[in-house]
Amino acid sequence: MIRKLILSTAVALGLGAGAGLAAETGAHVTDFSFSFEGPFGSFDQSQLQRGLQVYTEVCAACHGLRYVAFRNLHDAGGPALSDEQMRAYAAQFEFEDPETGEMRPGTPPDHFPPSAISNAPDLSLMAKARAGFHGPAGLGINQIMRGMGGPEYIASFVTGFTGEEREEAGTLLYENSAKGAFVAMNPVLSADLVTYEDGTPATEEQMAKDVAAFLMWTAEPKMMARKQAGLTAVLFLVVLTVLLYFTNKKIWSTQKGEKKKHA
Ligand code: HEC
Repeated sequence: MIRKLILSTAVALGLGAGAGLAAETGAHVTDFSFSFEGPFGSFDQSQLQRGLQVYTEVCAACHGLRYVAFRNLHDAGGPALSDEQMRAYAAQFEFEDPETGEMRPGTPPDHFPPSAISNAPDLSLMAKARAGFHGPAGLGINQIMRGMGGPEYIASFVTGFTGEEREEAGTLLYENSAKGAFVAMNPVLSADLVTYEDGTPATEEQMAKDVAAFLMWTAEPKMMARKQAGLTAVLFLVVLTVLLYFTNKKIWSTQKGEKKKHA
């Protein structure tokens, strides 16, 4: 009985490891470094602004950001556009007024438009919907060490086109090494595609990292607040632990003393 159990466990683990490996070999995600990694990391405001520019000039042609409101671009901790810049940004878009049925320019409470083409997924939450790191063998240790890798995945995805193409049912598909598959999105980034206002050279990798950082912000705009709250909570618990330890000592000190006397 026990032997059978051990055997079947071994087989199950073996299969699990095999499947994990198979999933890992197809795709490659580069471990780009981001300013917001780790317990003390925070978003880099200039990077978020550059990412917004890449999204606006390149990705928005197909992808929407329908869960993000224009007013959030003004929030501290995010791209932090000035109030005027944010209003000007919103005003580039046109929305139909539900009451009059007329078109009007966008205002701060409006959201970014949804995807322009139906098979391009909305990017608002994409950085949370994808994991860059897996395993080993389905254990998830890589995610503990390096993070979930959502932004790393996005940066690797947009720079991960191998140049291999294939036609399927009349659609051209492009091989992508980050996804480890052929996808319907064509390679869109090329060096100097955008001109950054802060003078950062617009290499392909730079644009990929900037837009990935921006998409991490859209997916988790309150990341800074979360990390701060977590840090405060941990500090508070450390102090509380010390206090409780000494309180406990003090409360029981008379009893412990007596015990020692008898022994
Ligand atoms: C010409 C249209 C087009 C443009 C421009 C475009 N995409 Fe895409 N994108 C697509 C389509 C279509 C898909 C769906 C591909 C599929 O699932 O086969 C996609 C999928 C994706 C995915 C999901 C990949 C996955 O794991 O399923 C990400 C992330 C992405 N795009 C990011 C971007 C970023 C960032 C930009 C801007 C730098 C961008 N895209 C520009 C059309 C576009």
